[in-house]
Amino acid sequence: MNRNLLLYSLGILFLFTQCSPTPEQESLSIVIDRGFQRATEQALLMAKELENREGELPRSTHPDGSLSTSDYEWWCSGFFPGQLWYLYENHPTTELKKYAELYTGRVENVKHLTNTHDIGFMLYCSYGNGYRITQNPDYVEVLTTGANSLITRYDPAIGAIRSWDWNKEVWQYAVIIDNMMNLELLTWTSRITGDETYEQIAHTHALKTLEHHYRPDYSCYHVISYDTISGLPHAKQTHQGYADESAWARGQAWGLYGYTMMFRETHNPVYLEQARQIAGFLLHHPNMPEDKVPYWDFDDPDIPNVPRDASAAAIMASALIELSQLDPSGKEYLAFAEQQIRSLSSPAYLAEKGENNYFTIMHCTGHLPGNSEVDVPLSYADYYYVEALLRMKELRSRSE
Ligand code: GLY
Repeated sequence: MNRNLLLYSLGILFLFTQCSPTPEQESLSIVIDRGFQRATEQALLMAKELENREGELPRSTHPDGSLSTSDYEWWCSGFFPGQLWYLYENHPTTELKKYAELYTGRVENVKHLTNTHDIGFMLYCSYGNGYRITQNPDYVEVLTTGANSLITRYDPAIGAIRSWDWNKEVWQYAVIIDNMMNLELLTWTSRITGDETYEQIAHTHALKTLEHHYRPDYSCYHVISYDTISGLPHAKQTHQGYADESAWARGQAWGLYGYTMMFRETHNPVYLEQARQIAGFLLHHPNMPEDKVPYWDFDDPDIPNVPRDASAAAIMASALIELSQLDPSGKEYLAFAEQQIRSLSSPAYLAEKGENNYFTIMHCTGHLPGNSEVDVPLSYADYYYVEALLRMKELRSRSE
């Protein structure tokens, strides 16, 4: 090749690399619009699929690949109605509202449950969003009744809400990190009723969890069981993770979201500091993949040949967008959340229309040690993905 031809070829190559769009260069608004469009298409297909199947709510897929559903008592029952409310908020249509109301009504009986701590997930995502968006006064009774059911599980001698009642031969009083997510129902109930009891319980629970669930590196255990006499931990375990001492990805995401939310709700700086430290653990973890969608457990020795948990990425992204607004040094958080949204909105994780049993996000892990829900869609991945899209979109429209 003569010298001129070489220079010409290099010039063309340079222009090509400068001008051709890579996925990273796609505008974020296009990414967000694509995510909303797909999530809406899929949610409407799902809503129609289950419309005449009385009481059923989407859950995941069975091992044979078919859709799995649950009734209102499964901890995930509120996510699909909540997702429909977010989609309605983004693009209010009578069809989305009709389905949001229909599926919200399917979880009403949760308000009487006293055998689970998941009432916050189930009711605040569904009725809580419904009330925030429509101010439907009928929803208040469901939420406050549910909050009263939830606080029956609080033991002041321990200072925490009991999560699980099973496995009592091992756990005297099991509290899981996921329980942080149920506290928003309580802070909301204090605001609407003027009764501080609920928020005080949330506060005590969050402080107790901060003290005993977290390790010096700000990763957390999944389950702490408290001795019912001393109120101190007698067992520290990671039931849904690789090992008791490992960092189960979704548990870390629940903690990040939970402490960020508690700072927003209470303005207590202890919670902001905790959220910042958890974010530090996650964002700089050597086993965080390049696309920022975590492996199911940060300490699985078979990484990178292990399943991802896209639900953990969705929860993290939503939490980080909020944290970026609460912490003045939050730019890094927003940039990380943007990378997660871009990954989740790419063909690697975003389902094609009509595929994935009408869920939006692929490649989540529910309970790997239990050989349950591995590399599947999960209703909570879709819920927190749409929440993250909405938070990012609102943030961008505020700064325009
Ligand atoms: N135990 C709730 C979860 O799997 O995150």
